[in-house]
Amino acid sequence: MRILSVVGARPQFVKLAPIAAATVGRADHTIVHTGQHYDELMSDVFFSDLGIPQPDFNLGVGSGKHGQQTGTMLAGLEQIFEDVRPDWVLVYGDTNSTLAAALAAVKLHIPLAHLEAGLRSFNRRMPEEHNRVLTDHASDLLLAPTEVAVGHLSAEGLGARTVLVGDVMTDVLFKTRSLVQARSEPLPSGVEAGRYYVSTIHRPDNTDDPERLGQIIESLAALDRPVVLLAHPRLRDLASRYDLELERGSIRVAAPLAYPQLVNAVMNSAGVITDSGGLQKEAFLLRVPCTTIRPETEWVETVQLGWNELVSSDLTSLTSVVQRAAPQQTEATPYGTGHAAQHVVTALLR
Ligand code: UD1
Repeated sequence: MRILSVVGARPQFVKLAPIAAATVGRADHTIVHTGQHYDELMSDVFFSDLGIPQPDFNLGVGSGKHGQQTGTMLAGLEQIFEDVRPDWVLVYGDTNSTLAAALAAVKLHIPLAHLEAGLRSFNRRMPEEHNRVLTDHASDLLLAPTEVAVGHLSAEGLGARTVLVGDVMTDVLFKTRSLVQARSEPLPSGVEAGRYYVSTIHRPDNTDDPERLGQIIESLAALDRPVVLLAHPRLRDLASRYDLELERGSIRVAAPLAYPQLVNAVMNSAGVITDSGGLQKEAFLLRVPCTTIRPETEWVETVQLGWNELVSSDLTSLTSVVQRAAPQQTEATPYGTGHAAQHVVTALLR
């Protein structure tokens, strides 16, 4: 059997790693990189650090408006799918690369599987929400990470095509945590273990309005410990366009980290402040309290178990929420036990 994976953005490379490993000896695997992310720190380091084979194809589409970016990918993917004729196209998460590949596959009648199916924010302002809803409804096989995701898919009439596989990011996180512990990775420069926060901010709802971005930066700058702000290129670009100084107060601006360094930085931190989806979950799995600057989250289990708090409209509460008392320990495993990728390959083979 030939499985063709399409990835393009940073979180998808992380999810691809355990899948690529799980296909070895079980299925042929072709990797297509759309080129949505292209900086070395946003792309290449993930392939080298996580032992992912080099992509068989790279469309090199780069950045652009949503329609233009998605359309360019669609045209390029169609040609590749026609040439390779895989048994399955496997798409990951909720980016523009996911949607483009889903459309290209269904129009060629190639079976389509969606990894991380069924997540919902119910916020139609997020580009990711349309990407995931449209991809789920186009897919032949829905690979759901959690019971909650299975529930959403059933409610939308997609239960018969759904399989609960667990979360593949948990697979890669547990593996990377063990590697990092074994080789004692250095911390981000200038901070001490347990006495700093890690922050990432990149979502359009937080970055595109200069006033809101300014308030977020002010709140981070006022925190009681150094904040290592891992600046996505989008944040850097917009801050400089708005003439907004990021490096101030408690904030220490740093480049995005490679995955093992990110896991190490989060593991040793006093807390995470983010608007990323994956990082909320990684913080929970590493049992580090997280504060999410969004009105809602797809990873509701992190909130229900007390390890994640949402702050959105009232940014004045950010300081007190970040500096809250430690949550209660839990043994819950809502994201599986680190073997999701094998279940994914089994479902595809079946
Ligand atoms: C994309 C995904 C988002 C995911 C995120 C992870 C969509 C709609 N969004 O958002 O779901 O959480 O990736 O990071 O697909 N840029 C660079 N170098 C790069 C990549 C991007 O400089 O390698 C800059 C460009 O200015 C670009 C901007 O970042 O315009 C945004 O990149 P884009 O891929 O469009 O969206 P992300 O915000 O990264």
